[in-house]
Amino acid sequence: MLNWGVMGAGGIAYVFGNGMRFTDTGQILAVASRTQSRRDRLANDFGIPRQYNDYADLLTDNNIDAVYIATIHPLHAEWAVKCAEAGKHLLVEKPISMNHTETEAMVNAARENDVFLMEAFMYRCHPQIAKMVELIQDGAIGDVLAIRATFGYRSGFNPQSRLYNREMGGGGILDIGCYTASMARKIAGAAANELFLDPISVKGNGKVGPTGVDHIAAATLKFENDIIAEIVCAVECTYGSNVIIYGTDGTLTIPNPWLPSSPCRGARTPLPADTTFPATQLIVQSSGSREPTEVMVTVDRDLFTYEADTVAAHIADRQAPAMSWADTLGNMQLLDAWREEVGVVKS
Ligand SMILES: NC(=O)c1ccc[n+]([C@@H]2O[C@H](COP(=O)([O-])OP(=O)(O)OC[C@H]3O[C@@H](n4cnc5c(N)ncnc54)[C@H](OP(=O)(O)O)[C@@H]3O)[C@@H](O)[C@H]2O)c1
Repeated sequence: MLNWGVMGAGGIAYVFGNGMRFTDTGQILAVASRTQSRRDRLANDFGIPRQYNDYADLLTDNNIDAVYIATIHPLHAEWAVKCAEAGKHLLVEKPISMNHTETEAMVNAARENDVFLMEAFMYRCHPQIAKMVELIQDGAIGDVLAIRATFGYRSGFNPQSRLYNREMGGGGILDIGCYTASMARKIAGAAANELFLDPISVKGNGKVGPTGVDHIAAATLKFENDIIAEIVCAVECTYGSNVIIYGTDGTLTIPNPWLPSSPCRGARTPLPADTTFPATQLIVQSSGSREPTEVMVTVDRDLFTYEADTVAAHIADRQAPAMSWADTLGNMQLLDAWREEVGVVKS
């Protein structure tokens, strides 16, 4: 049983709190938040016994094994390094930091202090990703040629919100482009029998708004195995969510790539113990058949429960194959390159 401390009590911390109701690998022992109303809501709804108004209190609580950093992204690196130095294992929300340089410092701190560290790409922990890799490697669509990964929604422009404010880590690439980048790298890696591949070329374009961050962005990637990926993200355009993998013998579509099987996402109250978790599907359209094949992936827990369980399962190894340190470093390097191409103003 891992004793978790949650740092920051915003939207995603509430989702995590709900996800922790369906695991027996850990419990939330403490929440630290600057904001009393949010702290109270999380503590009351999920029965969290210890509440702190200073993030630093999590570092000195000897009963905390692992800290889940759920603050806005510019605070991730500073607090992850402090947590590692205090001997705490770490699950850090995506993007793990603002850039590759910060991420290197976090990985070094985890290595030097011998603690677990994983970027919270919950979608990587869901069984549909293992099924996707299996289908690719079994040749269900032949050799992978190209990938298209999309994540975009429309949020009204607000220069004070974390999505648009530069000091708060605004911009679609950091918020959701990170998913499309990591998915393309995962798929190209699966095709090469690796956990991931880094692109050899990145070309990007995008719309940068008045606060200096990207509202809409696209990039094309080329991998050493000649796979081409298009990745698209937006906080100002309802692109929706989709991943399509094009092979020599067909296509593999993932209709719900980022948030499958998650009643916890969107729940405003604690979910009941008898909550059921929906299966998700992958669609294989072989060149030789008229009808697509639906591959159902059944689950026994929430997406965010899988994430917490992944940490518990791999804590002794200090990193998890779902999102290893090298994988995270490669992803941040790609985000740096994409933001550079788009012309995002650096903080
Ligand atoms: N994995 C996912 O599905 C997912 C989904 C959404 C977001 N995220 C990630 O999770 C992180 C938090 O996102 P969110 O949607 O939960 O955001 P949010 O609801 O706005 O919460 C942000 C949190 O950051 C903390 N914070 C510290 N300094 C702050 C400042 N100067 N201004 C505003 N907030 C500050 C606040 O903590 P206090 O409680 O101490 O006030 C607040 O709880 C981001 O890195 C985001 O990318 C992940």
